[in-house]
Amino acid sequence: MSKFLVLNGPNLNLLGKREPEIYGDMTLTDIRERLRKRAAEAGVEIEFFQSNHEGALVDAVQNAEGSTEFILLNAAAFTHYSIALRDAIAAVSVPVIEIHLSNIHRREKFRHTSVIAPVVMGQVAGFGAESYLGALEIALMKLGAMKEAVR
Ligand code: DQA
Repeated sequence: MSKFLVLNGPNLNLLGKREPEIYGDMTLTDIRERLRKRAAEAGVEIEFFQSNHEGALVDAVQNAEGSTEFILLNAAAFTHYSIALRDAIAAVSVPVIEIHLSNIHRREKFRHTSVIAPVVMGQVAGFGAESYLGALEIALMKLGAMKEAVR
């Protein structure tokens, strides 16, 4: 069975009560359940992990090598300055889709820069919880294409 890793960075454990006018009122558990349901329909297993700690996220990216087809990553604030996370993504061959609930490009200037953007496959931002679901659909399509190519 194919596996996708959904990784979430700092403060995303507070979704639902954290600045709901920006991030919406869905909790991370709600998002996880929606992803799990959709992935199950497509025969893909979802592993879900959230951490407020940079090193834990770096470990998770490193450990995904060989066991995971795709990483869906909302690196939260680490997006903007974690060279360690960027280097971990560049070090593994697992494709990564960058996710943001908010449209980081229309917010404060410091959020316009993503240090991980140059090493990910692409970015889905600005659609609230649907950013996760959209990224999942893209990963499912890409997985289908990858499987087709090796047939
Ligand atoms: C975020 C955007 C980041 O700038 C912010 O630090 C977050 C969440 C988003 O999902 O919109 O924590 O990644």
